[in-house]
Amino acid sequence: MKTSVAIIGAGPAGLSLALLLHQAGIPCLILERHSRAYVESRVRAGLLEQNTVDLFTELGVAGRLRREGLEHFGVILSFEGERLRIPFDELTGGRHITIYGQQEVVKDLVAACLERQIEIRFEAKAWELHRIETEAPYIQYIQDGTRKSLACDFIAACDGFHGIGRKFLPPGSYIDYQTSYPFSWLGILAETAPSSEELIYTFHEEGFALHSLRSDAISRFYLQVDNTEKLEDWDDSRIWESLEKRLFTPGFKLQTGRILEKSITPVRSYMTGTMQSGRLFLAGDAAHIVPPTGGKGLNLAVADIRWLAKAMIAFYKSGDEQKLRSYSQDCLRRIWRVQDFSHFMTQLFHRIGERESLEYRLQRSKFDYLKISRAYQTSLAENYVGLKEI
Ligand code: APR
Ligand code: PHB
Repeated sequence: MKTSVAIIGAGPAGLSLALLLHQAGIPCLILERHSRAYVESRVRAGLLEQNTVDLFTELGVAGRLRREGLEHFGVILSFEGERLRIPFDELTGGRHITIYGQQEVVKDLVAACLERQIEIRFEAKAWELHRIETEAPYIQYIQDGTRKSLACDFIAACDGFHGIGRKFLPPGSYIDYQTSYPFSWLGILAETAPSSEELIYTFHEEGFALHSLRSDAISRFYLQVDNTEKLEDWDDSRIWESLEKRLFTPGFKLQTGRILEKSITPVRSYMTGTMQSGRLFLAGDAAHIVPPTGGKGLNLAVADIRWLAKAMIAFYKSGDEQKLRSYSQDCLRRIWRVQDFSHFMTQLFHRIGERESLEYRLQRSKFDYLKISRAYQTSLAENYVGLKEI
């Protein structure tokens, strides 16, 4: 079995890469360890930068996204009940974000791949990568209990943070950077109308809360919880009470409803300083994780893919290997910027120290500065909507 580009992972990164390569006439195949139903129902974040929507539009997969996605032109920041709206369209020359659940993105991308006859092998788990330093690498994978081989010119590891791709970078060939935080995010999807038209990020002395949404009838919320806490510790009434308390401001009324899904995700920052070796290239969560405050994960994955597809297309069209060589460097400029922004948003809104600690005072000072400085607001806004080019 042989293809030109073997892609591991049918998440947003792997699926977008397959569509871009296919558009350029380059054969590729995706191996995905889970079933189609599983990848399409995994609830994740739902904030798309304009760059991301533009790419999906270029790929011809944005029809439903344009109909059902919710365009947002501002965001609300709140500190101990005091609110500040950041009008990011005004501050960034009209740029905006779109709210559209990641599982909807995945459904649209899977459907487009299958329609265009791009093969996705579901329930096929990549196991070992071989000969990545040669021009003829191959992947061993397991499907239906049988070990199989897939030969290719390139391997694109788009297999997420727990994938295998990163483990095959030669030891010592890269530095990794990481930090963990003493808190996680408890996320819920609820059958209730949003209580705010725009997202609210809030600092409260009991911890961070985020009000997001998916539609007129479905809302999405997150709460900062300790790393030791379990879902069993959070029954529905405790979740609603905490959201009510943390999101409170005079005149605000939280709409509650049936909770459809609950999960806890650790907050972490991680990245590899080099995203490639020989014919192996990493993209998306396989190479980096940013804290979710700011909703950047999917957008960063898609930004990597733009570079990777460009580099592979240049190679196949004209034998030019320059962009392949500079792939990591090209991606890392944006990744570092987004790492910093996501860290900044995390540090600004989470409960880090006691009320009169230095950390708390610095948070308070940043929020007070945001209230009076258009320059500071502009900086936050341009990072939030996503820098056009970097
Ligand atoms: N073999 C085959 N598939 C694998 C393997 C393996 N050994 N290991 C992991 N996978 C698959 C996973 O099942 C998953 O479907 O790789 C896919 C990786 O997808 P994502 O985790 O969604 O990662 P990515 O495509 O990089 O998407 C960007 O940023 O912050 C996040 O939530 C955001 O998931 C989004 C991500
Ligand atoms: C979401 O809607 O899931 C979301 C939005 C903004 C974030 C994180 C998640 O910063």
